[in-house]
Amino acid sequence: MENTSATIVNKGLASEIADIKVRQALVLDYSDWLLSRVDRDAMIDELGEMREDDEKNLRLIENMEVQHGVKAQPKPAALRHVELAREILIDPRYSFLEKVAEFGLLKTMQNTCGMLVARSMQIADPDVRLALGGFAAVNADNMKHMKWITNMTNVIGTRQITGSEEEPDLWGRVREMFTTAAGAMGAGVAEPLEDLPITSVLAMDHRKVDALFVETLAASSYETAREHFESIFRDLSVHAAAEEDVFYRALQDRGVSDLILHAYDEHGDMKRKLEEIRSMPGTFEEFKRQVKLLQQMVSHHVREEEDRVFDSAKMTFSENELVVLCRRFMQEKKRVQDDMRDGRFLANAGSRTTTGTSLGARSPSSH
Ligand SMILES: [Fe+2]
Ligand SMILES: [Fe+2]
Repeated sequence: MENTSATIVNKGLASEIADIKVRQALVLDYSDWLLSRVDRDAMIDELGEMREDDEKNLRLIENMEVQHGVKAQPKPAALRHVELAREILIDPRYSFLEKVAEFGLLKTMQNTCGMLVARSMQIADPDVRLALGGFAAVNADNMKHMKWITNMTNVIGTRQITGSEEEPDLWGRVREMFTTAAGAMGAGVAEPLEDLPITSVLAMDHRKVDALFVETLAASSYETAREHFESIFRDLSVHAAAEEDVFYRALQDRGVSDLILHAYDEHGDMKRKLEEIRSMPGTFEEFKRQVKLLQQMVSHHVREEEDRVFDSAKMTFSENELVVLCRRFMQEKKRVQDDMRDGRFLANAGSRTTTGTSLGARSPSSH
């Protein structure tokens, strides 16, 4: 590269590096401030790591500047930006969220300028590329940090807007559970539920309750956990009642006996536990312990049901009969939900007597 243009390239790079360096010191101030303000373990871990990266990167940038051997002053615009961002950090008119967003902007700027340096040095002489090679690592860190700050902004922003805590990975965890399980929760269901075999719709109910357990146990406050538990109570009670009145009864009518008696027993245990937890005073910790016990009972029952009872149903009923049973199950669910809404429902009735539909001794295909 001829002399003049090498000089231009080097001066341009030096000026950009000076800007990055002065902003990097500000980045450290923002990291310190944020570390002192967040209270979530996951965030503290990420921020701690980010703080270490940023400190290391400031030293790396200073080293590269020395290796490059061309020094420049930061541009007035960069100095003014740093001054403004420092003011924002201590200005009470800016909300916590706005300050975190400013941090995000700062990181984005560091990343954009770092990428520019990395790109520009491609046309510089080899010695310059050697001197500034460390920018690849700095840029990679900044990319990672931008993602973290976006996540933090989401969590903090949701808390500021809704007044409650977001569970950022809750949906992910729930979806993960479903990828290994039968059913199509979350992926959307393409056909009306009434056209599916009853086993599919029962399994969908089971997955929904699985998700409710995860939500209850992941809740950050007792109040939220109690709200989720009410949904478990309602869903499980309705599901069990309709399942007994339609599905279990139809199987019994076709001579499937021991399996169903065992299932009734387990429903009885679940209902007692549901009532016990609902009326239980005590601490959040104790509540969660009891919900976990219920979760274990339910998942044991569901596993047996989906393996043994469903298999037996598929051997006992034709495909068409399974669809007819599904329609009855849906109708019965609606009826029980109405009863519950109007206060006519006794959740702890065991194998309750019912006015609900049953296949009785008749063949489902005759309906
Ligand atoms: Fe079930
Ligand atoms: Fe069941």
